[in-house]
Amino acid sequence: MSNQPFRRVAVIGAGTMGHGIAQVTAAAGVPVALYDLSSDAVERGLAHIEKNLEKGIARGKVTVEAKAATMANLRGTTSLEDAATGCDLVIEAVPEKLALKQSLFQELARFTAPSTVLGTNTSSISIARIASAAQDPTRVVGLHFFNPVHIMKLLEVVHHPGTSSDVIDAVRSYGKAIGKTCVFVKDMPGFATSRLGVALGMEAIRMVEDGVASAEDIDTAMVLGYRHPIGPLKLTDLVGLDVRLHIGEYLARELDNPAFEPPQLMRDMVERGQLGKKSGHGFYRW
Ligand SMILES: NC(=O)c1ccc[n+]([C@@H]2O[C@H](COP(=O)([O-])OP(=O)(O)OC[C@H]3O[C@@H](n4cnc5c(N)ncnc54)[C@H](O)[C@@H]3O)[C@@H](O)[C@H]2O)c1
Repeated sequence: MSNQPFRRVAVIGAGTMGHGIAQVTAAAGVPVALYDLSSDAVERGLAHIEKNLEKGIARGKVTVEAKAATMANLRGTTSLEDAATGCDLVIEAVPEKLALKQSLFQELARFTAPSTVLGTNTSSISIARIASAAQDPTRVVGLHFFNPVHIMKLLEVVHHPGTSSDVIDAVRSYGKAIGKTCVFVKDMPGFATSRLGVALGMEAIRMVEDGVASAEDIDTAMVLGYRHPIGPLKLTDLVGLDVRLHIGEYLARELDNPAFEPPQLMRDMVERGQLGKKSGHGFYRW
């Protein structure tokens, strides 16, 4: 692809997010190395990509040729050195642990050129703190993708105070080349997406608690009155009440704002095991 700024990309972590990031990048015509700790994890990631593409063919969204071209751009590896050497963009999608991400960025200095852009798919950790472990923090940027990556159009680009402007420009072109719409956000807890989404979700739960309306009616109000594709309570059920409770606590503390404080009703539901879709019961029966 002509406006693609990166010629070779490595994705670190082949889980839920990593395989999707590798897929959309390979589909844009870029050779991608997908790295994970075990060959099982790598194979699982590649198999997920193949399944996504097959579903795309069944729906008429992907051609047989495009699937073959995407798969040909992908290779799996269990060596970080093999994955990262010669890449101009490395994106990490390893579990949400600061120490893990920092040690990875530290190690990457051994295998990457000074010009290599280092992206992190963290959903909540400060980009500046992750970047502090890199040899050159100015090359580090948040690339917050959404699940499932091959379907969701948004790419939230998060810059810390030191992120270089040429990194942001390159990432802007990359986002375009992989068919995403980028939003550019300062490195603040919750970025733009979680901060607004969680605030709405917490207020909706407080409204159920106060008996303002039923969960169904609050969701319908947002869907039909504000054109949201899904109501805030159904979305909380999909994400998981336990997951959102932790994010709410984190944002309340970090932003010093009680609007993010999880309501008692939410704490009680989590205590009872009503976690949303994954437990079969949340604000809805699943
Ligand atoms: N799941 C989501 O909806 C979502 C959305 C946006 C952002 N994120 C963020 O993306 C990141 C990854 O999340 P996920 O849901 O894909 O997790 P996941 O558990 O599905 O995948 C993580 C992968 O990383 C691998 N891994 C662990 N340690 C590693 C290491 N040292 N080197 C290489 N690989 C390693 C694991 O084997 C696993 O395959 C997290 O930071 C998360 O916060 C997740």
